[in-house]
Amino acid sequence: MILRLLIGLVAALAVGVGGFFGWAARHGSIAPLAAPPAPKSFDAALVERGKSLAALGYCVVCHTRSDGPALAGGRGLPTPFGTVYATNITPDPETGIGLWSEAAFRRAMHEGIGRDGRHLYPVFPYDHFTKVTDEDVRAIYAYLMTQKPARYTPPANELGFPFGVRQLLAGWNLLFFESGRFVPDPKRDEAWNRGAYLAEGLGHCGSCHTPRNAMGGLIKDRKFAGATIEGWHGTALDASSPAPIPWTADALLNYLLDGREAQHGIAAGPMTPVVDLLADQEESDIAALAAYILSFQTGRPDNSADAKAFAESRQLVNTPGAAVPDMDPALRPGYAIFMQSCANCHRKGERFTPLALTSTVNGPDPRNVVQIVQHGLRPPRASRGFTMPAFGWMSDKEMADLVRFLRAQFSRNAPWADVDGAIREVRSQRH
Ligand code: HEC
Ligand code: HEC
Ligand code: HEC
Repeated sequence: MILRLLIGLVAALAVGVGGFFGWAARHGSIAPLAAPPAPKSFDAALVERGKSLAALGYCVVCHTRSDGPALAGGRGLPTPFGTVYATNITPDPETGIGLWSEAAFRRAMHEGIGRDGRHLYPVFPYDHFTKVTDEDVRAIYAYLMTQKPARYTPPANELGFPFGVRQLLAGWNLLFFESGRFVPDPKRDEAWNRGAYLAEGLGHCGSCHTPRNAMGGLIKDRKFAGATIEGWHGTALDASSPAPIPWTADALLNYLLDGREAQHGIAAGPMTPVVDLLADQEESDIAALAAYILSFQTGRPDNSADAKAFAESRQLVNTPGAAVPDMDPALRPGYAIFMQSCANCHRKGERFTPLALTSTVNGPDPRNVVQIVQHGLRPPRASRGFTMPAFGWMSDKEMADLVRFLRAQFSRNAPWADVDGAIREVRSQRH
């Protein structure tokens, strides 16, 4: 991280030390409006479109603190550099964006610069929103300006030195940010381009599914290769997808609309609010998203039959007195916990996805399993029946035994390297 920071600082130096801070502050303030625009001044159809687009950008997920008013900010977003609090984007004139002109709002979305000219942290995904058309930004502006104003100032950010110095973001932008609207690829069809526009822009799928470098910049040539996000692992969506049964367009469509898919499993953690908001989008748009994502998975061999046979052979039955399967003695404590706490639901013949078919158990990172066992599952809106209780009461040792057993029983992949580290990290997260 230090090395990257140095590179950033050298880049800053290249611009000239004296000039840097002046250059970094070159974005002026855009004059505030005299008063918030009257909600009636916005076309109703535009507001309606803006509502749907705002849902696709999950604005409400980040900009609402638990039990706080929608869009009023205050949710702390953890980053490797500290916590950044989402701002109030209701039209309150003093604490929100009520006095922001459309031009100021557009500049924030496209360039990551606040109305007063300060740099915004890229936890606000302007590196994706820069792709969004002016028309779509206008609709989102109309929607936000017609929402109920809430008077609330979020807490100050908690960032260690030097990350609290916003001007340094000019160096970050220079290295990692490319401003510019989405450009369709004429070699691809309309659905693919629509999907690309949605995924790369408002949907910002890459912000959780594409790995970042030590300075938090997206690694562009590893798009959708999987990433760590908020103590979870954003599963790889490229050809390295760990899903034992390859994703198809229909399976992705169903997963994104219902929040679960019979042969792949359920959306969990940070993916749950995503599917909850996608469920209201046009089906043709979700199909386009699916087509775009799937285009990163070409060349995956289809070994479905084999994966299903393996899953079937590993399902457990918990009939009293059933023989304990042959296994490494080190796995027995985990097996005992599974039979006692999990097998009632996750056993052969249940209507749930066999664990052996999920990316959760087959992926390269144990975090998602630990998170799900620790916190249980709040199922997506469209799959309400699928709840799972939390098992946070287990000791670290029990959790570790269980997680190691799950991997050995339900996956043919190598054991996870750092189960204890994942458990420590998940259990130390603030909630
Ligand atoms: C992943 C979380 C996240 C999402 C999703 C998100 N934001 Fe933000 N947004 C933030 C954070 C954090 C900040 C504060 C950044 C800072 O202080 O530098 C912010 C800042 C902003 C600002 C600047 C406001 C100000 O007072 O400076 C605007 C405008 C904004 N967001 C609009 C939106 C809109 C519109 C959407 C949906 C299309 C959206 N955001 C989605 C996290 C998010
Ligand atoms: C009361 C029922 C219930 C119990 C008990 C239960 N689960 Fe679950 N679990 C569920 C449901 C429902 C789902 C979602 C399944 C689906 O979508 O097919 C789930 C999903 C999961 C997943 C995610 C699978 C995926 O789709 O990615 C894991 C991992 C998991 N459970 C592990 C466990 C473990 C380990 C235990 C025991 C400590 C346990 N569960 C106990 C109901 C239960
Ligand atoms: C806020 C972070 C976040 C965003 C934004 C996000 N995802 Fe996810 N996604 C995750 C996490 C974390 C997981 C792993 C947990 C789980 O299985 O639900 C996941 C899982 C998935 C899966 C399941 C993969 C598998 O093999 O089981 C798919 C498919 C997916 N996301 C697609 C998308 C698409 C498409 C978008 C953009 C429209 C998107 N995600 C946006 C965090 C995110």
